[in-house]
Formats: sequence, C-alpha cells, structure tokens
Amino acid sequence: MPTAITRPTGEELLRCELTHVAREPIDVARAMEQHAAYLDVLRKLGVDVIELERLPGHPDAVFVEDTALVLDEGAVILRPGAASRRGETASVAAELAKHRELFHLSEPATMDGGDLVAIGDVVLVGQTSRTNHAGLKALAHALLPLGMRVKAAGVRGCLHLKSACTAIDAETLVVHRPWVDLRRVEGARLIDVPAEEPAGANVLSVGDTVLVAAHTPRTAELLDGLGYRVRTVDVSEFAKAEGALTCKSLLFR
Ligand code: GLY
Repeated sequence: MPTAITRPTGEELLRCELTHVAREPIDVARAMEQHAAYLDVLRKLGVDVIELERLPGHPDAVFVEDTALVLDEGAVILRPGAASRRGETASVAAELAKHRELFHLSEPATMDGGDLVAIGDVVLVGQTSRTNHAGLKALAHALLPLGMRVKAAGVRGCLHLKSACTAIDAETLVVHRPWVDLRRVEGARLIDVPAEEPAGANVLSVGDTVLVAAHTPRTAELLDGLGYRVRTVDVSEFAKAEGALTCKSLLFR
C-alpha cells in the first residue's frame, strides 16, 4: 500500500513565501476544505495517509514535498532553500525514519524537493533560487550508493522544477517547456501541456490514476485522451501560495 506523509495548514498559509506569483487573498477555510478533499482522494486510491502535526510558525509547512526525497532504497532529508522553511524538516525526518534509512543534506547545500523529479534511475535537479550547486553535488554523493544519478535541468519563470515538469510514470514527463530545459534528458517521452495551462505540468500519479489540478481542465482532457485514468482535484487556494498537487504530500511505497 502506498503511504503519503502530509501536514495540515491554517491561518499561517497567509504568510507563505512567494517568488513568482503576486500575493492575493487566500481563503483559508476553503484551503482547508481542499486539503481534506485531497487527503480523501488519496485514501480512496488506497493510500495510507499520515498526517503530521500542524506547524503554525511555518507558513509553507503544508508543502511537505520540499523537505525530503523518498526513494525505494532510502530517503534524503533536504535543506530547503528558503530559511523560513528549514524548521519543517525535523518532524518529517522523525516520521520517515520509521520507513527508510535516512541521508541528510547539510550547509552549504540548499535543495527543495519540488526541484527533484525522479525518472528511472535518474533524479532531475532543477536549477532554481531554492536549489544550489552544493545541493546538487551533495545529492549526487548521497544517491551514488543507491545506484541513482543526478542531472541538472534549467528552470526559468517558475518556482520549482515540478512547477514545469512531473513524471507520470517511469518513462514519461508532463511538461511546460517554456519553463524548463530538458535537453540533457535522454529517452523520456514528453507530453506537452496546453500552452495556456502551464500549471497543468504538475500532476501526481497515484497507482494507475493521475491527479490533475481542477483549474487545468484542458490538461485533464489531454491526458484522458491519451488513455490515462484522470481524476481532478481542486488545489486552487494552494496555487495562490505557489503550491500544487505534488507539494502537498510525500508519496512512497
Ligand atoms: N509558497 C511555497 C514556497 O515558496 O515554498
């Protein structure tokens, strides 16, 4: 059974970090409803959902994905690029230690999980304001014994690599190409999201179902037409906090 580590949010979300989007009012009650519905979808898809304690002093803590990289062979506890987010990792590490051997990134490395896309035996590492070269080198070192390699991917115009590109399966990436340079990625099949829906590039595969943001209906249609089993999930309040579907869980087997 897949497991998802998640974390609730509340009023703290109003003070979230923003990098590429303008601040606009977030309806916290609606965000909490959307979060509950997201967890409900995961549970209905057979996921064992773990809810960590809320962290009211950490506005972005609901975006647990940024704190760790979880692979079959182990997990890497990251060092988020925004100083305001570094206090989020300890509680994630305590939970993950029950499931995986842990490796830790340390200063001067910075890296957000949103910048990491695992596909086959490669982890693509987004080059963004959150993830530095020391982070890339430290991750490469941590993954070597696990038989995995890293490859840098240039990112522009968005917060994270996963804003621009996510893996739908072990060979396929869903991508908004204007935001990411995938020239160094070999062998992957690329599915381009409709140009008017860049946010469609953040999809979350759960078993044989692909979760797509409800505010990207054309992407949902596209993937449905390609034969994927698609389910839409409303994360519109989290999009205002520069978050997306993948950010809200650490999903692993
Ligand atoms: N608001 C999400 C982040 O900046 O990490």
